[in-house]
Amino acid sequence: MTSRRIFVTTALPYANGAFHIGHIMEYIQADIWVRFQRMQGHEVHFVGADDAHGAPIMIAAEKAGKTPQQFVSEIAAGRKRYLDGFHIEFDNWHSTDSPENTELSQDIYKRLKAAGLTYAKPVEQFYDPVKGMFLADRYIKGECPKCGAKDQYGDACEVCSSVYAPTELKNPYSTLSGATPELRTSDHYFFKLSDARCVTFLKEWLDAPGRLQPQVANKAREWLEGKGDQALGDWDISRDAPYFGIPIPDVPGKYFYVWLDAPIGYLASFKNYCAKKGIDFEKFLTDPDTEQIHFIGKDIIYFHTLFWPAMLRFADKPYKVPDHVYVHGFITVSGEKMSKSRGTGISPLRYLDVGMNPEWLRYYIAAKLNANVEDVDFNPDDFMARVNSDLIGKYVNIASRCAGFIGKRFDGRLSSVVKNPLLSDIQAAATEIAKLYEAREYGKALREIMFHTDNANGFIAQVKPWELAKQTGQDAALHQCCTDAINIFRLLTIYLKPVLPKLASQVEALLNVKPLVWSDAQTWLPEQHAINEYKYLMSRVDEKQLDALFELPKETPTVTASTPHPTSPAKTEEATNVAATPTINIDDFAKVDLRIAKITNAEHVEGADKLLKLTLDVGTLGTRQVFAGIKSAYDPATLIGKVTVVVANLAPRKMKFGLSEGMVLAASGETPGIFLLSPDSGAQPGMKVK
Ligand code: MSP
Ligand code: ZN
Repeated sequence: MTSRRIFVTTALPYANGAFHIGHIMEYIQADIWVRFQRMQGHEVHFVGADDAHGAPIMIAAEKAGKTPQQFVSEIAAGRKRYLDGFHIEFDNWHSTDSPENTELSQDIYKRLKAAGLTYAKPVEQFYDPVKGMFLADRYIKGECPKCGAKDQYGDACEVCSSVYAPTELKNPYSTLSGATPELRTSDHYFFKLSDARCVTFLKEWLDAPGRLQPQVANKAREWLEGKGDQALGDWDISRDAPYFGIPIPDVPGKYFYVWLDAPIGYLASFKNYCAKKGIDFEKFLTDPDTEQIHFIGKDIIYFHTLFWPAMLRFADKPYKVPDHVYVHGFITVSGEKMSKSRGTGISPLRYLDVGMNPEWLRYYIAAKLNANVEDVDFNPDDFMARVNSDLIGKYVNIASRCAGFIGKRFDGRLSSVVKNPLLSDIQAAATEIAKLYEAREYGKALREIMFHTDNANGFIAQVKPWELAKQTGQDAALHQCCTDAINIFRLLTIYLKPVLPKLASQVEALLNVKPLVWSDAQTWLPEQHAINEYKYLMSRVDEKQLDALFELPKETPTVTASTPHPTSPAKTEEATNVAATPTINIDDFAKVDLRIAKITNAEHVEGADKLLKLTLDVGTLGTRQVFAGIKSAYDPATLIGKVTVVVANLAPRKMKFGLSEGMVLAASGETPGIFLLSPDSGAQPGMKVK
């Protein structure tokens, strides 16, 4: 087998917040693939970086009273805990706000310019006279030109769903300063994506067999061939000062749009790594055998399958076009999308802090991943069942049943492997399982591995070493059974190692072997090989840990449909809006539909430490079920018949225990106690509170 040289990246996360579970899922997917390739003996370089530039980060930094550099470096400082915590082994982590990225971005731009693929043209845009800056559409609000609804964004109305240009808004205002924006004209620089050379190249690039997942290639082709309104336009790659970004050479006051320098950050991180490792960056890229592979999520296909390959192609050598862009879907939690503003999802740090094993998550996510662009759901019950039954009940079980006898009865030494058809079967599976990993069909790979694990357990259940151990004259049989089982366990460990690297290293210590690689599946442990004493390998998922993971944080007294641990924003646009709500106007307040509700039933929730399940009568709005974090303060029986206030238009949230269809209001503070709000007597269920 010839060895491959592969350069692998994951999308560069915006440096405006901590990692959320979506980032971790992407890194787990890529990390498994990288570890698998390394076990094959291939040369793999796996890098990441923070995506530091852009207006949202600049604005967030300003709000935090920091320079953008300070702001992003603080975010960067927090990355290691997550990556180490989930055994994600990047070779290098860098930043797009770096000398390497400045140099590479300017170089690539100059080459595109020399190729005649850039031009400047005046663009009319809203300008905030107070902030002294041009405003992206997301920073402009106003009245819908069609229905007159207030506080609508610059592109579409949330009330009547009509779509328009920001310039059509009535009474527009800047969400940054509140000022009325002015229309001003400024020169913007464009990348000529519509150029025939680009279009021809991209068609060819997209058509290369096996390069992209079929659904991704189709989507990109649709954009490329788009007609009329949808026709592929040129790409605006410049922004005016003030902007946190890389200056465009020779045009003072203009910067590259963040999406131009962001993917170049892949190369910047790699270049930074090459310098540390003594690798020749240009030679590596120009080597025809080098493969360049990007793992990304489904929301950024456009950038990675059109702009990015075209930029690289026409910047020419040493730059090379990506060999593959592997796209994954989004992770949802109990079927619900992560929402940045409401902060649903799972906090990766909380996961680690409550003592949950990172390899459980790696296993669970891997078990649900395939090669398609499909969303992956984290379902707590399913998570617990799968980890406990597959990993503990099936896989670890093999070692825990057999390794001890080798130590106690045979001085830690194995006998020789006999021709057990089960062993050769499992050995023969190496090729098929490798194919599945290679194709990112992790779910299928794990099912295949678990199929063999089941067979192994069947064999042990049939031979019953624990009974052989009690009988006299059965030493040889006991020794044989346990030796076979240990060899099987070793094979299964090889197959699981890309997903469970830490557990695999514990097993390597137990088996007293060097780090396992894929080709080890073709060998057995020799007769007389000494293994070490069996130590506990992995614990089961405890329901309490899941409760703690989803538990409401202390500072949220109210009960709720929103989750405990706000995950960080995924898209900077929204992030800045969330951060910037010191005051609201009456229209904002009016969006909250507060209603009088009568508690018609209240009960404990099995397995929940903090929650009570309430049934509410909300008059004309009907009956609602709500989970409230008030268990510590109220006996359910005393609640029945009480009248309180509910947020009636909170999007329903699927919680571990069921659907929560609103939120009741309660007070709490520094001192103990939670106090449910109640109206003066006379208020009727369904009445509006305003
Ligand atoms: N900064 C850009 C990417 C630039 S790449 C040159 C960006 N950053 S992001 O932080 O918003 O997203 C980073 C990655 O996380 C993307 O691949 C995105 O698809 C992925 N995810 C964001 N939310 C996700 C889920 N809920 N689930 C899985 N992946 C998700 O986009
Ligand atoms: Zn409207």
